[in-house]
Amino acid sequence: MSIKQLIEAPLVVVTNREPYIDERSDHGIRTVQKAGGVVSALDPLLQDIGGQWIAWGSGNADIESSSGGKRQVPPDNPRYTLHRIFLNQDEIQGYYAKYSNQGLWPLSHMLIERAQFSRRAWQVYRIVNQKFAKRASSVTPERAWIFSHDYQLALFPAFVRRTRPDVAIAHFWHIPWPPYTIFRLCPQHPEILRGLLGADVLGFQSDVDVDNFMNTVERTLKVSVDPENKTIHWQNRIVHVKSFPISVDFDNIQELVQSPRISRWVRGIRRHIERRDQILGISVDRADYTKGLLPRLEAIKEFYTLYPQYRERVTYVQVVVPSRTEVAEYRRLYERVAKKTQEVNGQFQSSTWIPIITLRHNIDRPRLMGLFRAADFAVVSSLVDGMNLVSKEFVAAQVDKRGVLLLSETTGAAHELENEAFPINPLDPEGFANTLHEALSISADERALRIARMREHLQKHTIYDWMADIFITLKAAAQSYV
Ligand code: UDP
Ligand code: G6P
Repeated sequence: MSIKQLIEAPLVVVTNREPYIDERSDHGIRTVQKAGGVVSALDPLLQDIGGQWIAWGSGNADIESSSGGKRQVPPDNPRYTLHRIFLNQDEIQGYYAKYSNQGLWPLSHMLIERAQFSRRAWQVYRIVNQKFAKRASSVTPERAWIFSHDYQLALFPAFVRRTRPDVAIAHFWHIPWPPYTIFRLCPQHPEILRGLLGADVLGFQSDVDVDNFMNTVERTLKVSVDPENKTIHWQNRIVHVKSFPISVDFDNIQELVQSPRISRWVRGIRRHIERRDQILGISVDRADYTKGLLPRLEAIKEFYTLYPQYRERVTYVQVVVPSRTEVAEYRRLYERVAKKTQEVNGQFQSSTWIPIITLRHNIDRPRLMGLFRAADFAVVSSLVDGMNLVSKEFVAAQVDKRGVLLLSETTGAAHELENEAFPINPLDPEGFANTLHEALSISADERALRIARMREHLQKHTIYDWMADIFITLKAAAQSYV
């Protein structure tokens, strides 16, 4: 059954980050998409099935390019309606920069020392969640399905439920859910839990996250949870708590990388690489401390030190996209990555070779996937990561089956790909360097076999399967109380 057939009610998607941002530049208004897992996963889906999407209108030309807060997107081929919520500077600071990204984000990634909470930011977070809920309540058709997302909108489900008991709500938490002993450090953790429990279905990336969440609810709210059926009785309803590992649009990525334009581009890169007997490595991340960018550079340095035979041969391209620049820590990280890269390059480069090439801007999707296709290896070195879609995109783009994947053991993706990827501990530079050497030493046949197995898995577990699983669960949940 296709997703379209499965979705029996109008669909409203709600995220913090909008899928299309209108920015004013010297050449007029241009529409851009920002890097991030949630948006890259959901936009193709809504383009396919239609519906409505509510999000923060964060672009500096968003107001003028919308009419009554609405914009039909994609701009060149409108397929669905985007409703923009406009926030003032205080709201952006309190809700987005502070409570979400200096509080819940680091805490959920178990980086306790980085987490900061304040009651003032909490108040703003609440108000903005209410704003989202108010808009959702007014635009959502009767008995529609709402699919809301992530840590920025934890209070949203309960706020909507108050005014719209007719709608069915699935909320997906894209990042890890930490153990109770960590989450309880959030001063408002009982309120966060009550907010989330307004949903009918709560989705997480892995069973570990589900268990941690159930345990947090049990110990905080003193309600009994059913760990076997993965349900929680809450305010005369049953909340279904399940893991749904997110994935990628496998066929779409294959098509993108095999288009004539991208194929030509990839051939050009390969000719250049092979003529010089080079090996091409790639990594793609937002400039975020959870991605382990600095430890990875340390490991690359270790690699060239321990294995000098790769000097002049392995060129590593790191795509590092600026992210959350509203937060000082993110801006600082970006500068530190640039400095560390210079240091490694300074130590090893020659007149004809630069070990690390940094691309600092958001690369359009077809070319990004093309880079994955062209690469001999990819490195994903997150310290903690809910899933990490980049690793799956690399596998989907590897239609020539030449590349190997080095994948941090502490990503959600490792649960699925650990047998064929080369596992790394991001905090073990020597081990990381040894693994890279090992990965580059296997035969072409073994490389092809490993990547083929991962491709087979992803072909059977696509983004459409992820969504279908969530909606099947939501449908059953909605039926049980209607
Ligand atoms: N991405 C992108 N352009 C870039 C860099 C990244 O579109 O220049 C996309 C990338 O392809 C992936 C997403 O951003 O789909 C990142 O998702 P992931 O789960 O790996 O990490 P997140 O950024 O969500 O923490
Ligand atoms: C992660 C989060 C998303 C977020 C994305 C990009 O994927 O789970 O909710 O949208 O990072 O971050 P940003 O703050 O730019 O939206």
